[in-house]
Amino acid sequence: LCAVIPCSFKSEFEPKAIIWFKCEKPQYRCTHSDPVFHSDKSNTDVQPGFKGRVSLLEPDVTNRNCSIIINDLSKSDSGYYLLKVEGDRNLHQKPEVKISPLIEGQQVTLSCTAPGFCSGSPPKITWIHSSTLTFKPSVENHNTIITCQVSFTGNETRKRTATLNVNYIRKPQISGRTTVMEGDDLNLTCSVDSFPPSDHILRKSDNKTLIYLQEESGNVSFSIINVTTEEARRYICTATNQNNNLTKEAFVHVTYKRDPQVFGKATVKKGIFLNLSCSIDRFPPSDIRWMKSETETGLNKNISEVHYSSEIYQQYQLGNASFTIKNVSMEDAAPHICTATYQGTEGEIHVKCKRAFS
Ligand SMILES: *[C@@H]1O[C@H](CO)[C@@H](O)[C@H](O)[C@H]1NC(C)=O
Ligand SMILES: *[C@@H]1O[C@H](CO)[C@@H](O)[C@H](O)[C@H]1NC(C)=O
Ligand SMILES: *[C@@H]1O[C@H](CO)[C@@H](O)[C@H](O)[C@H]1NC(C)=O
Ligand SMILES: *[C@@H]1O[C@H](CO)[C@@H](O)[C@H](O)[C@H]1NC(C)=O
Ligand SMILES: *[C@@H]1O[C@H](CO)[C@@H](O)[C@H](O)[C@H]1NC(C)=O
Ligand SMILES: *[C@@H]1O[C@H](CO)[C@@H](O)[C@H](O)[C@H]1NC(C)=O
Ligand SMILES: *[C@@H]1O[C@H](CO)[C@@H](O)[C@H](O)[C@H]1NC(C)=O
Ligand SMILES: *[C@@H]1O[C@H](CO)[C@@H](O)[C@H](O)[C@H]1NC(C)=O
Ligand SMILES: *[C@@H]1O[C@H](CO)[C@@H](O)[C@H](O)[C@H]1NC(C)=O
Ligand SMILES: *[C@@H]1O[C@H](CO)[C@@H](O)[C@H](O)[C@H]1NC(C)=O
Ligand SMILES: *[C@@H]1O[C@H](CO)[C@@H](O)[C@H](O)[C@H]1NC(C)=O
Repeated sequence: LCAVIPCSFKSEFEPKAIIWFKCEKPQYRCTHSDPVFHSDKSNTDVQPGFKGRVSLLEPDVTNRNCSIIINDLSKSDSGYYLLKVEGDRNLHQKPEVKISPLIEGQQVTLSCTAPGFCSGSPPKITWIHSSTLTFKPSVENHNTIITCQVSFTGNETRKRTATLNVNYIRKPQISGRTTVMEGDDLNLTCSVDSFPPSDHILRKSDNKTLIYLQEESGNVSFSIINVTTEEARRYICTATNQNNNLTKEAFVHVTYKRDPQVFGKATVKKGIFLNLSCSIDRFPPSDIRWMKSETETGLNKNISEVHYSSEIYQQYQLGNASFTIKNVSMEDAAPHICTATYQGTEGEIHVKCKRAFS
């Protein structure tokens, strides 16, 4: 009938041909004789008595399954069968490069191992683009390509290249105008330079509300249209990367202005105590002053430089100005103006102290 010789093998190299020989004695290397089977069909050396009777159970030699079936078995087929596998030694192998995770500033050692198990002369191993095997990676090493070259005797060389990925993170940066006028838009962006990309969020200090409006690689930003003074807060950007939390804060100032307001009675009688105060609610605080309009010249004069009939007191606080005249006289009756100056613009409110007779 037939006989099957189950057979398999392992090899570091890629098998090219499976060849079977029939030997007279066990342990006898009869590979000099003609084979009884050759996986390469074009091979003409196969013994005529076996031609067409022997075949591989698994035709693809790269599967490393060398089982054969011998058909039309005869008594003369008895004996010892020997397997030979041919292939290219090491030709498809590359050195192995091992890179543990690279963290900025932490010393690391790269290793390169020659391919195969061959125990001949030790090969020469060299690194290209990197003079040392042990170094402290920095951001400059990120995306660097390194090459390990292994040279065997006989001028056979193999190379393996690898790309370095250095883990790093930079403090987040918040960009955008942090001083905005009430009613304008507030646009803030937080950008984080890191590898691998970090998770990051921008949030308001008062509230757990997270703000992400637009998210692009490495950046989160948000816009608030028609800003109110409620938005004047600390904004915090937190970037998380490899158990590292880095934060950056920005304080948003919302500038605003309100019309100045005057408190106090503007129509008074001769001889009484006059107390006028002017206040303006705005941020940043204004420089606020009282001026007296001189009817003769039509000029407004700083009350600090005006002669009054009796002592005057001035009091200035942030956004508030008040002045008092102890003993009002007819000379003092003139329009008084409260001026608030901020960033080059002025808001004015006029107060007329009318003559009062009694
Ligand atoms: C070899 O191939 C044959 C036929 O496909 C299969 O029966 C046998 O189990 C294989 N041997 C091994 C070790 O895989
Ligand atoms: C090895 O190869 C290099 C360049 O490929 C050549 O210059 C050198 O002569 C070769 N050495 C031997 C021993 O073949
Ligand atoms: C703020 O963002 C809005 C919407 O994204 C945009 O229309 C506006 O021009 C931006 N304003 C500034 C000052 O960048
Ligand atoms: C946080 O902000 C949201 C939306 O502006 C508001 O509804 C909520 O009351 C705020 N929570 C706190 C604790 O301030
Ligand atoms: C992130 O923001 C920074 C600063 O505004 C900018 O230079 C960079 O181009 C932004 N990156 C992306 C991916 O939008
Ligand atoms: C901005 O908000 C204020 C107060 O919420 C509102 O009175 C005003 O109409 C808004 N302006 C615009 C342009 O939406
Ligand atoms: C980073 O912040 C998050 C959220 O606030 C927190 O859960 C986490 O424990 C922090 N991690 C470190 C390493 O501080
Ligand atoms: C003048 O009036 C303001 C408020 O209207 C008050 O704060 C201030 O104390 C008064 N000054 C005097 C001297 O009474
Ligand atoms: C008024 O005079 C005071 C004191 O001399 C000075 O500090 C202030 O700047 C003056 N204000 C104006 C509007 O000229
Ligand atoms: C200014 O004075 C007014 C009236 O006395 C008061 O309501 C206001 O809080 C004061 N503002 C500042 C900034 O002191
Ligand atoms: C107020 O001024 C007038 C003159 O201008 C003077 O006669 C009077 O005594 C003064 N009154 C007080 C309380 O000082």
